[in-house]
Amino acid sequence: MKLLIKKQRQIFDGEKLVKTFQEERHIINPEKDFQTKTFKIPKEKLKQSAFTHEKDNFILLDLSEKEKITTFKRGAQLITPKDAGIIISKTGLNKNSKVLDAGTGTGGLSAHLSLICKVTSVEKHKEHLEIAKKNLENYEVEVIEGDIYKIDLKQKFDVFTLDVPEPWKAFKTADKHLKKGGYLVVYSPQITQSQKTILALPENYLHEETVEIIERQWKITDKIVRPETKDFQHTAFLTFIRKTN
Ligand SMILES: C[S@@+](CC[C@H](N)C(=O)[O-])C[C@H]1O[C@@H](n2cnc3c(N)ncnc32)[C@H](O)[C@@H]1O
Repeated sequence: MKLLIKKQRQIFDGEKLVKTFQEERHIINPEKDFQTKTFKIPKEKLKQSAFTHEKDNFILLDLSEKEKITTFKRGAQLITPKDAGIIISKTGLNKNSKVLDAGTGTGGLSAHLSLICKVTSVEKHKEHLEIAKKNLENYEVEVIEGDIYKIDLKQKFDVFTLDVPEPWKAFKTADKHLKKGGYLVVYSPQITQSQKTILALPENYLHEETVEIIERQWKITDKIVRPETKDFQHTAFLTFIRKTN
């Protein structure tokens, strides 16, 4: 897959700007012709790194890591880069860290984390497992079939990330797998799930904080400088818990 960018084009009548065609971005398969709203680009052109077609200038780039992950085939809803980023920075993940991640789902969070450290990912549902394994083919993630509430991998991790419907059922797993001082990070779309987890915390766990990351994008052109008008997207609440012994 490649990122195809149609560059902005402006039409002038003498000094006067008559029309602006805005930049467009598409993730495309360069092995197939690409149909835009108005014309078809033959696949032969998509083999080049830049070309002109019907007065428009195009550039082709390799996908960034973020683009690769956000275009994964979906098994379940996958985590956004904003949420993956805050997990990495708040837990201090580094190249020596080991993370246990569940459920694997589409493999989004596991993929983001694997760019930094060693990841073991657990998924219960066969169908999601197969999709995730394919998505994660080019990432160093050990994907294991199992129920995160019951599993015993007989090893310890620095961080345990949980994106499952009933995270409060996973404290026994955290007891077995999380190092002293390690972080349990719970990703919950509903605040009631965060509350239930915090109220169920055993003695040896400390609730550090629960946060929601709001990403606000801005539109910036020569004439417009303001936040984008589209709605803020709620994804989830992130609860950071520390294991004390
Ligand atoms: C929302 S998805 C996770 C998405 C993932 N974080 C990503 O970024 O792609 C939740 C996943 O947890 C799995 N799951 C639910 N209960 C589980 C359990 N007890 N053990 C392991 N996986 C479980 C579901 O099958 C689903 O695939």
